[in-house]
Amino acid sequence: MSTRRSPTRAMPNSHAIPRPPHLRLGVNIDHVATVRNARGGAVPDPVRAARLAIAAGADGITAHLREDRRHIRDEDMARLKAEITKPLNFEMAATEQMLDIALKIKPHAACLVPEKRTERTTEGGLDVIGQRAHLAPFVAELGRAGIRVSLFVEPSREALDAARAIGAPVVELHTGSWCHAVEHGDGDQATREFARLMGAAMHAEHIGLECHAGHGLDYRTAEVMAALPQVVELNIGHFLVGEAIFVGLEQAIRSMRAAMDKGRHELWAMTVRRDEGAQASGPTDGGGARPATGKAAPAEAGGGKGGKGQGGKGKGRAPA
Ligand code: PXP
Repeated sequence: MSTRRSPTRAMPNSHAIPRPPHLRLGVNIDHVATVRNARGGAVPDPVRAARLAIAAGADGITAHLREDRRHIRDEDMARLKAEITKPLNFEMAATEQMLDIALKIKPHAACLVPEKRTERTTEGGLDVIGQRAHLAPFVAELGRAGIRVSLFVEPSREALDAARAIGAPVVELHTGSWCHAVEHGDGDQATREFARLMGAAMHAEHIGLECHAGHGLDYRTAEVMAALPQVVELNIGHFLVGEAIFVGLEQAIRSMRAAMDKGRHELWAMTVRRDEGAQASGPTDGGGARPATGKAAPAEAGGGKGGKGQGGKGKGRAPA
């Protein structure tokens, strides 16, 4: 009997296999405010950028009100909450002052991040294990106010277990080390870092945490992250605001959306192909349908040597 794939066989399978969940794009508009603050005036307005981002396909807006107010200011947060039509994700350090502001503004979500005055950007994830006692009341109080809390963490099981233990419903995996390795063409390091991200995403799902990811993502790395079915949201800022200089913010967001959709679609198509292959080779090969949230598929999308996201040519370019 022929084992070649036939279209008649492919159709019912592709219908039977559910697509992975929609991957939300949270656009971080901090660096629009960075440019504004360079001159101390009112332009460019980050709220205008947020509205445009939503019109271009962003599923939400992320803004980090830093303790030193180096980019986003208090009034930006208030205006964002009042003026945008999609969920607002308030990135904040776990301080009493930020908690008060968050409780007043009542964003849809709050992402707790570590913050050092001297850092250029958020370096590393929260020390959830060491800071459990400090973080737990923030998670509880934000949660009581109806704000969905996430913790920005390194992709480690221990950090996720600790996040779960203090009652956080969501984690955001720090993709910075992986993106850095990709950017510098360090394939071995990129492979290791991606394996950590993949393991953490699977563990998050296993222990019931919603999984987000972000930091340092560009078109190419976002496409690879989209192949992790457990990840339901990416938060991306610096690259998009940089791209906006060349192609405009709207086009940058549309290209990012296309890259993420491509990554998600490829994951699903691969699952369908595997299902077809398993059916064609009969019941004795131990195969069978892998659900679209299949655990192993993403390895092929970016974990292996020479896979996408390993650096090299084409990094950061708009998808075809
Ligand atoms: N997620 C978190 C928690 C962050 O702190 C940042 C940076 O502000 C981002 C995502 C976005 O990172 P980037 O600007 O590198 O895309």
